Amino acid sequence: MHPLHDLTLAELRQRTSLKWQLHGPDVLPLWVAEMDVRLAPPVADAVTAAVAAGDTGYPYGPAYAEAFADFAGERWGWNDVDPQRTALVADVMTGLVEAIALVSSPGDPVVINPPVYPPFFQFVDHAARHIVEAPLGADGRLDLETLEAAFIRAGVDGRPVTYLLCNPQNPTAVAHSAEDLGGVAALAQTYRVRVVVDEIHAPLVPDGFVPYLSVPGSSNAMSVVSASKAWNLAGMKAALLVAGQDAATDLAVARDRGPRSESSGCARSHHRDAGGSRLARRPAGRSRRQSDAPGRAARGAPARGSVGRRGGDLPRVDRLP
Ligand SMILES: Cc1ncc(COP(=O)(O)O)c(C=O)c1O
Repeated sequence: MHPLHDLTLAELRQRTSLKWQLHGPDVLPLWVAEMDVRLAPPVADAVTAAVAAGDTGYPYGPAYAEAFADFAGERWGWNDVDPQRTALVADVMTGLVEAIALVSSPGDPVVINPPVYPPFFQFVDHAARHIVEAPLGADGRLDLETLEAAFIRAGVDGRPVTYLLCNPQNPTAVAHSAEDLGGVAALAQTYRVRVVVDEIHAPLVPDGFVPYLSVPGSSNAMSVVSASKAWNLAGMKAALLVAGQDAATDLAVARDRGPRSESSGCARSHHRDAGGSRLARRPAGRSRRQSDAPGRAARGAPARGSVGRRGGDLPRVDRLP
């Protein structure tokens, strides 16, 4: 059974989370991106074991980062995630603000691509950075000419420019293509822009996702990833700030400010033991390069050719703000 059909509406209404408690029974806030699935058994086992043992102290050690590095290599062919260049962060928004703070100062410009996850505006504003908008094109994708103009506008006072990229883009669900990301990296090099990427939804892309840090020219960027969306762990808080090779020294300051829960343990457990999101994973035994054309069609996913060209977009179910 598809994981999204497993729980009944009555069961979901018992949940104590924001999505299911914010309003009365006749209103459902679909903008709350919680996952209406059960936990994968390895995650449930890890959480249960940690709670039973009282093993709920401060997370320590590289195990989560190592599990993510293995996952990133296997799933996306992103083979140079170095646990030494990562830092545990409480959640993705905290990690993004942390990364922005590492490469800029109050008053500096941060470029974003509306329409984008609305808290990007609030968090950047709260960090006292100046927002410069580079709207997406009419097709909901990055518009590199608009982005270049925004980089120039943002840098006009000579202040360091940061670009906060959302990949996949929320709310358009576009997973940016290798071409677009390569274009971003080239522009960032030309205009000396530091790129910070939100890749929270990446594990939900069925195939063809391109991590920004795997693109040539991106090595001074930072990406924030998390197990929270793909494995329904939003309440557990487990995100990871990953720095490219040339951002390692920036990250040194932020390292080891970890989340204050057992979340990294259960997130690690899922990356390592559950083998991938049940919402997006490939059939067992297939490598990421093997054809899954019939399965893709059955899932309503775009044809592989278009996925390769455009990047692998999120399944329809995640096209929520
Ligand atoms: C694009 C995007 N980034 C960040 C977040 C929030 O992540 P976190 O709760 O880990 O800060 C969300 C939540 O829906 C999101 O859609």
